[in-house]
Amino acid sequence: MRQSGEEQHDEDAGVDTHGLPDAAALDAGDPLARYKNEFVITDSDVCYLDGNSLGRLPKRTVDIVHRYLTEEWGSELVAGWSHWIDEAQRVGDLIGGAALGAASGQVLAVDTTSVNFYQLCDAAIQARPGCTKVISDTANFPTDRYILEGLCERYGKQLVLIDDESGEGYVTPEMLVAHLDDDTALVTLSVVQYRSGALHDVRELTRIAHASGALIIWDASHAVGVVDLQLDHDEVDLAVGCTYKYCNAGPGSPAWLYVNKHLQQSLRVPIQGWFAQRDQFAMGQGFVRADDLRGFQIASPSIVGMRCIEASFSMIVEAGLPAIAAKAALGTDMMVRLHDAWLAPLGFELITPRDATRRGGHVTLRHSDARQISVAMREMVKVIPDFREPSSIRLAMSPLATSFREVSDGFARIRDLVASGRYREAGPPASRVT
Ligand SMILES: Cc1ncc(COP(=O)(O)O)c(C=O)c1O
Repeated sequence: MRQSGEEQHDEDAGVDTHGLPDAAALDAGDPLARYKNEFVITDSDVCYLDGNSLGRLPKRTVDIVHRYLTEEWGSELVAGWSHWIDEAQRVGDLIGGAALGAASGQVLAVDTTSVNFYQLCDAAIQARPGCTKVISDTANFPTDRYILEGLCERYGKQLVLIDDESGEGYVTPEMLVAHLDDDTALVTLSVVQYRSGALHDVRELTRIAHASGALIIWDASHAVGVVDLQLDHDEVDLAVGCTYKYCNAGPGSPAWLYVNKHLQQSLRVPIQGWFAQRDQFAMGQGFVRADDLRGFQIASPSIVGMRCIEASFSMIVEAGLPAIAAKAALGTDMMVRLHDAWLAPLGFELITPRDATRRGGHVTLRHSDARQISVAMREMVKVIPDFREPSSIRLAMSPLATSFREVSDGFARIRDLVASGRYREAGPPASRVT
């Protein structure tokens, strides 16, 4: 993982006369500013600070999907499969090269993060049959913890969840060392913690897991497309992630899985689908697994999903992850400073690390009235955050789609909403999605 701090930027270049970030100056000097116009924006007054949950719709996606519908599916019909059949590998290579630091032949664009996580965790546990322990952390994303609980119950393994009591909710090398021993089959963590926004030290934690003989799986859902991941360089074994957050490929777009070349022959995923069969179209009796990455593919890829990924990743390729990560660092720094100046006096507390090299693209603020404030933000002042139990509001800089002005305006509206007490007039949430 290359740290965003390695990309040079002068933190004081965009500061106004009050010592606060100057949004206009930052936007004027932003090499990625033009990309905002590449997204469909139906209400220019909305401050969309939830790109860590679902990215905006790229205009090029509309054209590319339309062309796919009419020129591929519509006219080619089943003949299209002659060139769609290996799309999971081709689009996987695109994701790997653009955003993961992965050489070709190691990334598949398939299924969902949850399914991919299940597949790889099962494979990793089976690869260390003599070991009884699986390690993760209490702050990990729920689907990861629930899947691990199920797997450990089924295979009679002990699930150890590291609990960071410091409040920042992440696992330091020292914490992992304290829990790890040669009885550990698997360590699995998120690169960026979904709740606190803290960024793990991928290289060091991977090295520590390997030193005790364990495999490691990284869930990069909150990092891909905003952190300059270097999975090959960091000697990561296995990783999964989505494409609908900072990668902007759309709700429910296909996820990806990464299997380092050195593990592709030895690991076996539990679902033996026909795409993993060595001679797929012989359609013979008996499963004979493909030796390479295709051995990890279950089934037909969603081609409309592939086109969404291609469209949105073409922007990531053009912009480059180092520039994207550098803007995320500046944007989250702006949020930290505006929090300190405007929101801390109103009862907010920052729980994301202050060091830009230790966070991803979002910051998380705690407030005792966070639930009602987040409803009021959406409904009264057009600032879109998300809320996480029990009292966290997450706010993101999604570098291709978000301007510094949007961040600054959003924070000013939160300040005014809370200072006036007007947020108390907001009703209950309109949806069970927070
Ligand atoms: C870190 C992390 N892992 C896994 C998931 C689950 O993704 P999916 O529902 O696409 O399987 C999410 C969803 O937001 C996530 O944030």
